Amino acid sequence: MDEIIIEGGQPLNGTIQISGAKNAALPLMAATLLCAGEHTLTNVPDLRDVRTMLALMETLGASYSWLEPGTLRVNSDNVNNFEASYELVKTMRASVLVLGPLLARLGRARVSLPGGCAIGARPINFHTQGLEALGVVNELSEGYVDSTATGGGLQGGRICFDLPSVTGTENMVMAACLAKGQTIITNAAREPEVGNLIDMLSGMGARISGRGTGTLIIDGVTDLNPCETAIIPDRIETGTYIAAVGVTGGELELTCCNPSHLPSFLGKMRSAGILIEEKGDKIVARSNKNLTSVDVKTMPFPGFATDLQAQVMAMMVYSKGLSVIDETIFENRFMHVAELQRLGADIRVEGGRAIVAGLGPGQLVGAPVMATDLRASASLVIAGLAAQGRTTITRVYHLDRGYERLAEKLQGVGAKIWRQKG
Ligand code: EPZ
Repeated sequence: MDEIIIEGGQPLNGTIQISGAKNAALPLMAATLLCAGEHTLTNVPDLRDVRTMLALMETLGASYSWLEPGTLRVNSDNVNNFEASYELVKTMRASVLVLGPLLARLGRARVSLPGGCAIGARPINFHTQGLEALGVVNELSEGYVDSTATGGGLQGGRICFDLPSVTGTENMVMAACLAKGQTIITNAAREPEVGNLIDMLSGMGARISGRGTGTLIIDGVTDLNPCETAIIPDRIETGTYIAAVGVTGGELELTCCNPSHLPSFLGKMRSAGILIEEKGDKIVARSNKNLTSVDVKTMPFPGFATDLQAQVMAMMVYSKGLSVIDETIFENRFMHVAELQRLGADIRVEGGRAIVAGLGPGQLVGAPVMATDLRASASLVIAGLAAQGRTTITRVYHLDRGYERLAEKLQGVGAKIWRQKG
């Protein structure tokens, strides 16, 4: 297995181009299953999870080609298999996103239960309950959800989520597009990636209102047509690099990004002492490494993103003072704490709360650490960039799931970081 090696202490200066968002690419790729024809997606990131989703789509009958780097052409003419196998689904729980499109297209879907992951049990009860409101019968057998649209196809209905589930909302919107009648989804997720999906579906001929709000109204249509859609920038990648320059000091210009997708995060960065300039599709972040401790509570959009919690914790380790970080979305998203403690971090966890005693700039000491999940890995990179000496990170395949050319991008702005083939 590959390792990432970092010699800490280098400031970051220069420009990084942000890639397309993993959490937009995955639902939009699933949406190409909704109708036959040639679909085109641009600004698609080159990530392990994107390749996994393509492999899954091929097993369902889709085919694809890369017209050029980042531009994906999907042909869905021959989508005729409704089963998503455990072998693929167990490696990426976002595979559950094929559930809605398969039911809408074929009236049937048999998708392996994703199983848990490092950050939590990751149930899909909101997905199955939502589908039942659309006339679907779900049977759980042999680790699979076996779903059938009764009554000759999906029927519009009322769906209210207990929690604003991101992929739950995405699955229901995709299913409702081709249901007979109207569907109303309340307590829907409002993340920018949901908006990106709604824009694609509307371009395909779907009738959806309420974009960006917690109430979505979908009037089912009889058919959809393929279109071309651009994947939005990755707001989590953007935030990751801002946290990095926060701890190393320097000045980073992030291009091809969207500041409006990070309202809470940018506010917290400013409170922590990072100078943030928003310039259209660019963000300039400057830091002198003297960080003020801030408290963070993860919330659904537009609150502070849970996917940036591990990264801000790595930052707070280098601040002065106490930080209280509350993780309210997932029950086990502190796997990075033990690894940060190996670098000398002073963090105490009490249930869903982590209390970080900031040690000041550059006060961690590099050591071998292990990546446990995608965003925890990013926090270890951030910590290593500002630590004294060498940090070696193993199991970096976690990083490859969601970050395109991370080591290369950081090298390009002055970091002493490289990847060692394992
Ligand atoms: C999406 O996961 C993202 N993944 C996650 O990003 C992100 O952390 C999460 O939303 C929250 O923003 C993709 O978009 C592919 P949820 P999702 O349904 O949809 C509970 C990353 O690092 N829940 O919004 O799976 C769930 O356990 C990944 O890029 C149920 O109880 O998250 C969690 O506590 C990690 N039953 C809460 O709701 C369900 O049926 C929110 O989860 C579904 C969810």
